[in-house]
Amino acid sequence: MTGIDVDSFKAEQRSLWNDLSAAWDRWHPVFEAGAEPVTRLLLDVGAVRPGATVLDVASGTGEVAVAAAERVGPQGRVVGVDLAADMVAVARRRGAAHPQLSFIQGDAEDLGLPSASFDTVLSRWGLMFLPDRARSLRGLCSLLRPGGRLAGTSWSVPPRAAVISTAFGVIGSRLQLPAPPPGTPGPFSMTDPAALVDEFAAAGFADAQADEVQLTFRFDTVDDFVAFSRDLLPPRMRQLVADRMDDAERESLWTAVGERVAGLVDAKGAVDVPSTAICFHATKPE
Ligand SMILES: C[S@@+](CC[C@H](N)C(=O)[O-])C[C@H]1O[C@@H](n2cnc3c(N)ncnc32)[C@H](O)[C@@H]1O
Repeated sequence: MTGIDVDSFKAEQRSLWNDLSAAWDRWHPVFEAGAEPVTRLLLDVGAVRPGATVLDVASGTGEVAVAAAERVGPQGRVVGVDLAADMVAVARRRGAAHPQLSFIQGDAEDLGLPSASFDTVLSRWGLMFLPDRARSLRGLCSLLRPGGRLAGTSWSVPPRAAVISTAFGVIGSRLQLPAPPPGTPGPFSMTDPAALVDEFAAAGFADAQADEVQLTFRFDTVDDFVAFSRDLLPPRMRQLVADRMDDAERESLWTAVGERVAGLVDAKGAVDVPSTAICFHATKPE
């Protein structure tokens, strides 16, 4: 547990993800093409099978939950939960064709769902935003039936997760922003596979494993990568850029973001941005 004010942190998270929901919706085809290997892997290591009951934690715009609904079929059930109402609205639209799939707006740290009611808990790039992960993991473990599986992903360290860290890195160095204190929830709060294995064991899981998975996110042009990075900039960082940089500095900032990936351009002008995810899974003991 960190020293942050949890209520304000969650209010900011809710507002941030509501703000970004339209941009995530817009960039869906590009992001999902790159993320597809981990989505498939999560369903496999999470043992998602026909007829299963699945909870997708921090379900965002719903991709993992929709993929799980397709796998469990009409006899199964999938529930996605997310803090941000606007993310839930996009997910409901994406999942509308699957009656076995529902989405609720809620806090993953305070779900109030019946214990032992799921075969699998999934969370793709979600658990890292929870301020009290130890308690949350114990709570998620209690929602699983004995023998049930938890499977999720996080990002590796920023230099190895360029698809989301490039703009943060350039802005952070230009504005000399301090690194967040260790343990602060955020995209880079679960970067050490060995530490994750220990966390899952401490929360009551067995057979915990965490492995790196190499992903490639393909953008048609460098300008597309810059537009993606701009569109998905968290509002607080957007405000800092607006407040502390003039027009020329802002233009130079986005030029620099493009230059960071210029070496990755292929003969067609497309850019393959490599990024490392960590895929973890664990079992609730029988
Ligand atoms: C990076 S997005 C990942 C979304 C989705 N899992 C995916 O992979 O596309 C993180 C999501 O976590 C959600 N989130 C953050 N804190 C949460 C909490 N306490 N409870 C539930 N969802 C939360 C955000 O609203 C956001 O939709």
